[in-house]
Amino acid sequence: MLLKRIKPLERILAESHDESKTNTLKKTLGAGSLMAMGIGAIIGTGIFVLTGVAAATRSGPALTLSFVVAGIVSALAALCYAEVASRIPIAGSAYTFTYATLGEFIAWIIGWDLVLEYALGASTVSIGWSGYFTTFVKNVFGWIIPEQWQHNYWDVGPTGLPIHGIMNLPAFCIILLIGVLLYRGTRESALVNNIIVVIKVSVVLFFIALGSGHVNPSNWVPYFPFGINGMLGGAAFIFFAYIGFDAVSTAAEETKNPKRDLPIGILGSLAVCTILYIIVVAILTGMVPYNQLNVPSPVAFAMDHVGLGWASTIISIGALAGLTTVLLVMMFGQTRIFFAMSRDGLLPATFSKVHPKYRTPGTSTIIFTIMIAFIAAFTPINVVGSLANMGTLAAFILVSVALPILRKRYPGTDGFTVPFGPYVIPVLSAVSAFLLMLYLSVGSPMAYIPLPFGFSTSAAGAPSTWSQLNFALPLPWMGFLVWLLIGWAIYFLYSRSHSNVGREEALNK
Ligand code: ALA
Repeated sequence: MLLKRIKPLERILAESHDESKTNTLKKTLGAGSLMAMGIGAIIGTGIFVLTGVAAATRSGPALTLSFVVAGIVSALAALCYAEVASRIPIAGSAYTFTYATLGEFIAWIIGWDLVLEYALGASTVSIGWSGYFTTFVKNVFGWIIPEQWQHNYWDVGPTGLPIHGIMNLPAFCIILLIGVLLYRGTRESALVNNIIVVIKVSVVLFFIALGSGHVNPSNWVPYFPFGINGMLGGAAFIFFAYIGFDAVSTAAEETKNPKRDLPIGILGSLAVCTILYIIVVAILTGMVPYNQLNVPSPVAFAMDHVGLGWASTIISIGALAGLTTVLLVMMFGQTRIFFAMSRDGLLPATFSKVHPKYRTPGTSTIIFTIMIAFIAAFTPINVVGSLANMGTLAAFILVSVALPILRKRYPGTDGFTVPFGPYVIPVLSAVSAFLLMLYLSVGSPMAYIPLPFGFSTSAAGAPSTWSQLNFALPLPWMGFLVWLLIGWAIYFLYSRSHSNVGREEALNK
């Protein structure tokens, strides 16, 4: 039976103890550091970049409500993550949780699916980084990067016309640079991370303080130019801004008091970011008419728009620093998840081979760096961003489903407990994440991409009925399902027969 092959919790815990002898992961992190880590991973391209295109093409000024909706979906999932992570305080995140509860096949699917969150998430962030970098070097040094080298072939300009660029060179280069850092084992230290988090949050507060004096309430009218469906489509798109709190669970093994500190780290970082986001977006849409916001660096642009060019440069510096830490976390997370899967035998040993000198998963880092860099160079941000959202929302659903099973299967574990019993919050979380996945198709700027075989992607406006919703733009779903099919094929052709747990089962028969 597919769902029967489980890696018992006792074994996962024992393996982690074995490793701690050689790796000596020190338990140094408290609730404060975990919150800083979460904020470092969360605030990034979502707020600094995607707000622009979301306001202009999906939500209009109702983008503020889109952030409220996506914040609620994330909070429900964060509660489930907090419980599961505090009961299984082991590195490996959702992949490990599901291996112990829903079994190997679902764990494989989740690990495969997390490639979308981490690898495509990193591509998305680097494209956002590129927008701020281009603005910054232009404002400060007067250097103009030719438009052809800032964009891929499919990107469209603010007017909606295609740019027919060659490649996104800055995005390509920043990924290579981060890849080199990770290969050499330069993990950002907690201190560097904390400094960058302070810079990032200060820039956000700076924007709030300065921008609130330049709000023109007439920019909030009409509030729903694309209707309620448009607002919900915007929520699905900017959900990307909330990705990252789950990364806190990867530090579980290094946490002093996981049962108390992990929930505070996960829920606290999400709460802080949600509040900041909602205020920033209300101000942003009040400063600039929504239909002018389809630009690569909207937060800096808003400052320029009201005549505060110097403030725009400060914001660009903060955004660049902030986006760099998000990139590090995502690329690091990607190699670590494949590391765990490879160690369990589900992927070839290459992915868990450790570099003799740098003690990092070297080959895996090279493979992913090249892959992520090419995707970032040649793919529109909307495509990679939507697929990253799909992958993350699917992971949320599986973690929510894992929660009641975990409680039932391992009644002895204790930790943070979600309120209202084992079903209410997990069910709400899974259903709301699924609805957001459906709404990813609404009013998507992917409508600009010509598809082969006469498929039409003409969802320029927001569809207003469920039937239109389903057929308006299946591209994020098509991409997601094709990715899952490839994953299934690999599982049955390779992983199932190479799995350590599976081999032992066969021996014991
Ligand atoms: N939430 C992160 C960002 O917006 C991934 O960049």
